Parts: sequence; structure tokens; C-alpha cells
Amino acid sequence: MEKWFRLKHHPMLPEGENGMPATCSKKHAELSREVAEEGLVLLKNNNNILPLKKGTRVALFGRAGVQYLKGGWGSGNVRVDYVYNLTDSLLEKQEEGFLSLYDPVRKHYAERVERYPGFLDWEELIPGPDKEYEVEISNDLVAQAATECDVAILFFSRASGENSDRFTEPGDGDFYLSPNEEKLVKAVTEKFEHSIVILNTCSLMDMTWCADNDKIEGILQAWNGGAYGALAIGDLLCGKICPSGKLTDTIAYTYDDYPSSESYNLDADEAEYWEDIFVGYRYFETIPGAAEKVAYPFGFGLSYTNFTSTYEAEEKDGIIIVKATVKNIGDMSGKEVIQVYATAPKGEIDKPAVELRGYAKTKLLAPEEECILTITFKVDEMASYDEARAAYVLESGDYIITAGNNIRNREQVLIYNLHETRITQQLTNYCKPHKLSKRLTSNGEYIACETEENPPKPDISEWSKNKPKNLVENSNYLVAAGFYRDPYWKENFADLLGHDIRTDMRTQGSYEGRYILKQVANGEVSMEDFMAQLSLTDLITLVGGTFAAGCAAKCSGVGNLPYFDIPAAQCADGPAGLRIQDYPTTAFPSSTMQACTWNLDLITRVGEAGAKEVKEHNLAVWLAPSMNIHRNPKCGRNFEYYSEDPLVSGRSAVAFVNGCQSLGIATSIKHLCCNNKELNRYEMDSILSERALREIYLKGFEIAVKEANPWTIMTCYNRVNGWFLTENRDVLTGIIREEWGYDGLIISDWGCRGEPFLEMLAGNNVHMPFSNPDHLCHALQEGYITREDLERNVRYLLEFLIKLP
Ligand code: BGC
Repeated sequence: MEKWFRLKHHPMLPEGENGMPATCSKKHAELSREVAEEGLVLLKNNNNILPLKKGTRVALFGRAGVQYLKGGWGSGNVRVDYVYNLTDSLLEKQEEGFLSLYDPVRKHYAERVERYPGFLDWEELIPGPDKEYEVEISNDLVAQAATECDVAILFFSRASGENSDRFTEPGDGDFYLSPNEEKLVKAVTEKFEHSIVILNTCSLMDMTWCADNDKIEGILQAWNGGAYGALAIGDLLCGKICPSGKLTDTIAYTYDDYPSSESYNLDADEAEYWEDIFVGYRYFETIPGAAEKVAYPFGFGLSYTNFTSTYEAEEKDGIIIVKATVKNIGDMSGKEVIQVYATAPKGEIDKPAVELRGYAKTKLLAPEEECILTITFKVDEMASYDEARAAYVLESGDYIITAGNNIRNREQVLIYNLHETRITQQLTNYCKPHKLSKRLTSNGEYIACETEENPPKPDISEWSKNKPKNLVENSNYLVAAGFYRDPYWKENFADLLGHDIRTDMRTQGSYEGRYILKQVANGEVSMEDFMAQLSLTDLITLVGGTFAAGCAAKCSGVGNLPYFDIPAAQCADGPAGLRIQDYPTTAFPSSTMQACTWNLDLITRVGEAGAKEVKEHNLAVWLAPSMNIHRNPKCGRNFEYYSEDPLVSGRSAVAFVNGCQSLGIATSIKHLCCNNKELNRYEMDSILSERALREIYLKGFEIAVKEANPWTIMTCYNRVNGWFLTENRDVLTGIIREEWGYDGLIISDWGCRGEPFLEMLAGNNVHMPFSNPDHLCHALQEGYITREDLERNVRYLLEFLIKLP
């Protein structure tokens, strides 16, 4: 097919099997269900309550049994035609003869709540203390059910999404149970001998009411499982599948147990990351007294079968190699995850007690079957960042390598001794905090953090007051769309732009007398010669996004200068499947659930499947995966993110990006970085040490960039250490371009508040969805930026477009 044919002609060519569409295909539905099956995490299974014995009589309590939540709102939302709920799933199991579902309780909920439609607006979902979603049920009905059933299932759901954080006040029906939910738990556990809790939740919840409650024998963390997630739950309950998901977060008992809870919401304008590098298990496994706050440790998840693992490990040429022989010694087929951790020696640099360094999942092992997993990582990956030396340093001493199936169940497999301390990477100090009142150390004490004042920013308040007259109401929008706008430029910036004003953006049907971008792609014309013919107005047009007329996702894109045959590459969300407002697509389980599979092949297949749907809609960039760190359960977007651990985030993103980009669809790893809070997300400042920034919040992105080369990166709304990240030259140019060698396109998040000319200097190449041409012209006029600055940014865009098929 001719280059950019899809982008230009929107042919709607099917990408599925036998000439059929891939979007919403059976194959994608099956994949979505498979991810849900492997991402379910069985947390508790006392007395082997699960799988349910054949013929069990079940009562399903909670309105969520009707209103299953497939995902959250915002970028992670996907329109579908139908979402299976748990009632559907249990009725299916009834038909298959596995169990019977108690009808009076089913009817009670069916008569009082409506099944959710395939697409929900966030207003309908947002929980909180002023809302009570749970439906009341009489004690008599519960008592009657208890006499006629064997097992009660308590099913609760939670959703969250962009632009708001979760509630974390007792009784709020969000992080905590609502009053009606509490009543329900009490009534059911008093009457039933056997109860199971299933959590259809975006992120973590309070566990004080269920983890150690003997009356609750089973707990299944079921996340938001996409359109088929509820069917996967039914399969797991009946033992049709064997649970193999493991937590990618530590679940503490309650909200205050998480180390970041103290500082998370002190101030709407900023968040100081006092816990420093001690995020998630790095806190719970290191800090004195923290271990007992854990209800379920990182990497944990039960199975219906049992495995033994034996290990052989060695160091060879700077690589640690761990070979695990895993054998299924139970009586059901299942999969196991092996996790390899390292404990670095104590030295001058403070360190967490243990860090994940690699992992792998077995294939489905039949009883008595075994397989060998090989997990490798570089010795240098065990280095710590030392701010004083601006370097990653590997300190001398014994590195204890351990392996197991969760962080609390490990055995030593190797001691690697390093004789001499060495620097593994000499870097430069970047992005130091301008203030940070304290930082946590491994002995549980806080110390002061070195700070550095930010350089002053140019004062542009005068121009902002004297905005140039706009010829049309919404000129930015028109300019950004690459429309003809000669009079606009002439009237406002004639002196500055002079002959550099393009008189007509249209091609008039011929490209005579000028180069077109395809000639650069073919190697006929150099990029320099091509760029030399672009006017200032062309450059200004290209550093803003472009309108999405006629595009399925209505999300805007980049590029679009017909005069030089520069195509528009349109974008669409998001991490749980292609999000198109008006059309159904395949809804996959949330990113957290994808990561909880610990199955990278499966995530690669999600990347491929989504890419096919993106392609069918003639879009070019899939605004996924989202990969911020789970700093705190309050963050409204945690479900869009993978883990508290940067290695899991990075590896999951690599798998997703590789799958997607293998089909010529660009990914946009987002939101770089420290977008860990939604309250005041457009303005708030994440304040943290350089070490925490590098080792925790940037590390996953670094892994994704170095191992999968995503064609675009999306920056975040928030500030980091005082600067909007989009204006942060230290991070964008210093770290990402110069240290990591990233050569793809950096775009902003939609409608970010950064100042476009500062973004040009910092290296945020395109301001989405549209830029601010007035400000860019002013900045040129005042000498804050030059044509070269614009060219530098546009070049990344053009090189990106050339990569597209
Ligand atoms: C979100 C991004 C998303 C973009 C485009 C923003 O509000 O933060 O994740 O990709 O909108 O929809």
C-alpha cells in the first residue's frame, strides 16, 4: 500500500481473519477474557472454599452482581455493546450444571438496579460519602437465603477515573465500605457459614473488614476486568480455570498504612514525596514496623494447585542467570509465576531491603508436568543512584539473589560478591527539588533533602495582557488545523514574519517547485533541505496538534500540512482498548489487571489486538500504555497504571509497545511523569528527590524507551519540582534525549497548561491538542526562541511521521 494511504484516504480496511473486521471480533473477545482469567488474584482461600464443589447453591449479594464495572472513566473508558455481569456468568454456570444461583436474591437486585450500559459517563459512576449505591436487603431474605444456600458471594465494585481522586474517608463507599455495604457484610456473615468476597474494583480498598475475618473464607481481587471479566470470575469460582494472577501492589490493611497517605492531600497545589524511594514493597519490606501493616504482600496470589520450584543460578559476563525448574505437584493444571529479587549490600548509599529484578510465568502445566524458566538481568541493574556523585553506583559487597512466588516466599539462589565499588553510569544532576521538607530513610527516620532554587522564568505577563486581535473567534484552533490563515498572520505579526508567511496552505493539486515529505522518506531529499523551505508559520503550525475532522476517535492528531504533503496522524486513547466515543471496540481489562497476569506474551497480544482496531479506524497513534507508578490508592487513575514497581511497569509497557508497534501503529507511553494524583492535576506540583524521580518514577519509562522505543511519549499535566514537566528541560532534554538517547516524538497531554515557547526550549515537541501561535510569535519577537528552536522540535515530528507506514 502506498505510504500514508490509510492516513490520507481513510479506507476502513478490515484487519481481522478472513477479511473480517478485527474490531469486536470473537478472537479479541476471547483474548480479553483470557487476560481477565490470568489477572484475577485469589487472595484468600481458607478451608479450600474455592473452587466451589459441584452443585453448590450460591446466593449473590450486592448490586454489583447486576452492575459489573468493566473499567473506569476518561481515557481508560471503552464503548462496548454489552458488558456481562456476574449474574450472567453464574447463570451460565448454572446451565452448565456447576452450581445453582439462588433466585429470590437474584430477583431482589434485578428488580432494583439496572444493568450498566456499554458506555458510562463518569458522573454516573463517581462514588463518595453523599451517594449510597448499595441496595438494602432485608435480614429475613438474607436469613432465608442462608437456609437454602451453601455459600454467599459478596460482590462489591468501584470505579474511578481522570480528573478526580478517590474518597478515603470511612464510610465513603469508595476506599472504605459504605454503610449499606457494612450492613450487608454483617448480615451475610452472621447468617451464612461460608462467605466469599469478590472485589470488582479499580484499585485497592480497605481490608480491615475482610482479610482477617474468619467468617469470610475467600477473597478474590477481580479488578475492572473489561467486557468479559465477569465471565472469567464464574470460570474461576467453578474451577474451570486455575487462578494464576499475582499482585503488582502491596495491599496494606487500611489507608493510613500506605507511606504516602500522610502527604498525599495536604495541599491541593503540591505533593511532597516524603516517602522518597520507599514506595510500595520498598517501604513495607524495609522500614521497621511496616511489615505488619501488610494484608497481602507484593507478588502474592493463590492457586488451586501446588508447585515446587528448584533453582540454579550463576553470574556470567555481568549477567545474573536464574534457572527455575517449576513442577506442578497438585491435581489441577495451572500456571506459576517466578519472581527474582536482589538485596544489595549495605554501604554508603541507603537502600531498600529488597528489589524485584526479573520474573517469568510458566505455560499451563498439567499435574506432574514441569518446565524450566530462565530469568536474567544485568549485574549493573542492581546499582543505586547516588545524588552526590550524579551516578548509578554499584557498591562492593554481597548481593543476595532470591527467588520465589511472592516477595514473602523466597529462597536464596545466589550470592554475588562484588570486590570493588564501581560507577555503572556517570550522569548529570537534573531536576533537583526546589523544596522538600524531609525524606524517608531505611531506618524509618526522615532526613533533610538538598534543594536548589529554580531559575527564574521569562515574564510574559505583558503579552498575555495585550493579546493580538484575532480575526476569528477561535483562531488557535484554525491555525492549528493548518487552515489558510494568511490575513491573521499579516495583521498581527507582519514585521516579524515578513515573507515567511505562507500565502496558502492548500496544494492546488500540485507540489511543483517544492519538496514533499515523502521525498525525504524515500531518501531523495535531505531533511535539512526539506526543513529549509518551511516558513515560520509552517513551523508554528506543526508544533501544535491538529483537528480531528472526519476522524473516528475525535481526539486530535499531529502533523497536517497539505502544502508539503505532510500527513495528519490521528490519535486515540487508551490503555483498556481503543476508545472511540461513538463506536464499540474491544474492552480489555484494566492495565493493573493486565500487569497482574505477569504474562508478558499476553500483554503483547493485547498490544497487537488493539493496534489492529486502531488501524481499522485509520488512526496512527494509540495513546497507551499508561504507566505511572501506583504511589497511593487514592489516585483516581491507578487502574490505568500497572504497578507500584517500576520494573513491572516498564516490562508491561515494553510488551504492550512491542505488540502494538509491530503492526505499524505508534504507542504513546504516558504520562511522563509523577502524574500520581488527579486532584488539581493541571497545576499541581510533584516534589521529590532526584533519586526517587530516577529510580522510581522515571525508571519504568526508561525501561520502555530503552527496550521498546515507543514512537511517542506523552508528558503529564503536572509540574515536577516546580516546573511544568512540559517546560522541564532537565527531564526532557537532559535525561530523556541525552541520557536515554530517545529519538521519538514528545507530545504534551491534552490541554496542558505549559507555555508553548518554554516547551520548545525544553523539548516538548508538540503541544496537544493545539498550541498557542500568538505566544510563539511573541516569543520569537522578544528573542526568547529562534527559528532553530522550532526546527529542532519539528524535526522530531517529521521523523516520527516518516516512521509511519
Ligand atoms: C488524558 C490523557 C489522554 C488525553 C486524550 C487527557 O485528559 O490525561 O491520558 O490521552 O486526554 O484523550
